Amino acid sequence: QHAAAWDRATLTALFDPETGWLDRRVLSDESLYQLELERIFARGWNFMCHESQLKAPGDYLISYIGEDQVIVVRGADGEIRALLNTCRHRGNALCRAEQGRAKSFVCSYHGWNYALDGELIGVPGQSTFYHGELDKSRLSLAKARIESHLGFYFATLAEDAPSLHDYLGVTGRAGLGMICAHGEIEVAEGVQKNIIDCNWKIAVDNLFDWYHVPYSHASANTAGFLDIARIQFPKDQMVMLGEYGHAIGGPGIPRAAQDQINALTDAQRMELSHAQADMAPRIRPRAATDLMGPEGVRSEGHPNIFPNLWVTISGTQMCLRLPRGPSHTELWWYTLVPKAAPPEAKREIIRRMNHVFGPAGLLEQDDGENWSQSTRSSRGVASRTLGHNLQMGLGHDEAKVGAGGEHYIEGLISEHGQRWLYRAWTEWMSARDWAELKANHSAPPTGRV
Ligand code: FES
Ligand code: FE
Repeated sequence: QHAAAWDRATLTALFDPETGWLDRRVLSDESLYQLELERIFARGWNFMCHESQLKAPGDYLISYIGEDQVIVVRGADGEIRALLNTCRHRGNALCRAEQGRAKSFVCSYHGWNYALDGELIGVPGQSTFYHGELDKSRLSLAKARIESHLGFYFATLAEDAPSLHDYLGVTGRAGLGMICAHGEIEVAEGVQKNIIDCNWKIAVDNLFDWYHVPYSHASANTAGFLDIARIQFPKDQMVMLGEYGHAIGGPGIPRAAQDQINALTDAQRMELSHAQADMAPRIRPRAATDLMGPEGVRSEGHPNIFPNLWVTISGTQMCLRLPRGPSHTELWWYTLVPKAAPPEAKREIIRRMNHVFGPAGLLEQDDGENWSQSTRSSRGVASRTLGHNLQMGLGHDEAKVGAGGEHYIEGLISEHGQRWLYRAWTEWMSARDWAELKANHSAPPTGRV
């Protein structure tokens, strides 16, 4: 019913990639938000969990596909499944805990009982009140499709979606590969969750925004909290663009420096990263080139797996930007630690990360306030008619392709990443199904951008 209000022409007119102007209603309109739930979240691959979060049969956690709540659970057979958390009787949420271990899921309303694979196995009064006539086989929990890459599980409600591998493409796989570049990881206990009163896309597009760092985060810099001088002052940026809106934006390692790293053995790289602690994340082991591509391995940016999985540049934090209406976003922060690290080292990473992003993070407190005010003015009758300006760097850079098929742009700090996000957004929103999206979405550009 929402599609009726917005046809292809009106949706495409909301963002002009040629001029970089975005209509602010994209950040505040309720009917656009409802259409996003249908055409972006229900249709895309949504991050559910990392395999380390569900170690044993019966381990489960709650996640979301848009506003559909999902129980992600490891079954008795070891398989991870995504079950919609809605009882097939009268819709009650079966599982109320955010995570735990269960033998089955019993509904708190009338007591229907579901196995870990979603099958309905028990109905009170089945032979008396239902006269033995209830067909339990037709009342299993609804399932979402679920697939994994490098231990990261994603789910979609779209039967016609491409495989997760194809959906991620080179850029999405490089983004997840960045996290695993230094070896196997696990998610630390305790996902931090908080709500910011901003549109989810502002929280997403900010990750490509390296222009705000010296201004928004000046206080963190003054306090000596982070050595952001290195981030602030190279004025260069490497942006990788992928199919369906995936992108990675941030500093890049100059090719000459990477050539020097490439000439080293893994042992020499290890030695070098111990000698230069702040450079350690950029001195990646040889295997990282296979995960990220020969040019992608030079990227030090934050990846976004479209629509809403944000990975930080360090590969030690990840954040889901979950939509909660046009004006609210729930942020779920995960800390990632090397699986093989000793407990004290893991604790140290967690302690450090808690001070960067998440509710107690100095950087996020700077960011959140700006996002919230930008969202608020997108609702004002007069202020929403003024566009959002995303024109930085338009027409000044060259998009190239690496030998691994990775698309990248190197140049000054720019808004290529943001433009790519909103271009993808109009394509997702105006396609009625996956066939139309596949036929009409933009391939990453080459040449002048
Ligand atoms: Fe779940 Fe009735 S709503 S048993
Ligand atoms: Fe920031």
